[in-house]
Amino acid sequence: MKKSVGLKALLVQLISLMISFVVLHVSRQFSDFRPEFFYFLLTHACLAASLFLFLRFDWWWALIQFIFPLCVFGFLQQNIPSYFYLIALAVFSLLFWSTYKTQVPYYPSKTSLLPPLRELLPKDSEFTFVDLGSGMGGLLFDLSSRCEQGHFFGIEYAPLPWLISRLRQIMKRARVDIHYGSFFDCHLSKFDVVFCYLSPAAMTAIWEKAKHEMRPGTLFLSYEFIVPSVKPDIVLNIEAEEALLYGWYL
Ligand SMILES: C[S@@+](CC[C@H](N)C(=O)[O-])C[C@H]1O[C@@H](n2cnc3c(N)ncnc32)[C@H](O)[C@@H]1O
Repeated sequence: MKKSVGLKALLVQLISLMISFVVLHVSRQFSDFRPEFFYFLLTHACLAASLFLFLRFDWWWALIQFIFPLCVFGFLQQNIPSYFYLIALAVFSLLFWSTYKTQVPYYPSKTSLLPPLRELLPKDSEFTFVDLGSGMGGLLFDLSSRCEQGHFFGIEYAPLPWLISRLRQIMKRARVDIHYGSFFDCHLSKFDVVFCYLSPAAMTAIWEKAKHEMRPGTLFLSYEFIVPSVKPDIVLNIEAEEALLYGWYL
């Protein structure tokens, strides 16, 4: 997927809204049919979902396009004060700020990942570890509290997770350095272990970066998402879950 996918999706939404509006307007002009607002949204939902399928977006885009207008109708029935929507918009914008650019939304990794991840870290020597896209910092706080010999770093692009992770770091007095920004602007040569939990859309680019910048013998780890066409040196099952931890030695 390309970076402009969010803009494309927005454009398709607007086109679908306009067509739905025209269709219902024409049906009012030339028939006795007086569609309610719900029918307008239903037409829009069906049309937007069909357009997304026609344009070969992933199926889940179409599902979201279908469900979202119907949710709008559902919420409007609830008599919720309008400032609620403003607050929700602000929170979601700060949480998913960079997703349209990075194609990687915020969702935390599971705690069941931590024991196998700790096993992969050096036991007898000092090391540097970075979580690319460190979210709210949970993974780093756990590792830093249990691995004395590690120096832990995080980089996060979305403002709200970054802010929360910084506040948590101050409150916990954790030995973790968390920076705001894109990990594409951070050189990876200073790290012994690079960890990421991103999305399939980001894997090729981050692997290219790791290959060029990481030192020989260092370890690149990815939770859940594999680098396409590059055989991993490590594949660990995370308990009985389907998600895997993959590792590549540079
Ligand atoms: C799936 S979450 C993982 C969070 C955390 N690593 C964990 O395991 O709980 C991915 C995070 O990467 C961040 N992210 C995506 N692209 C990024 C980039 N280019 N630079 C920095 N952070 C990025 C997102 O904002 C999101 O918080």
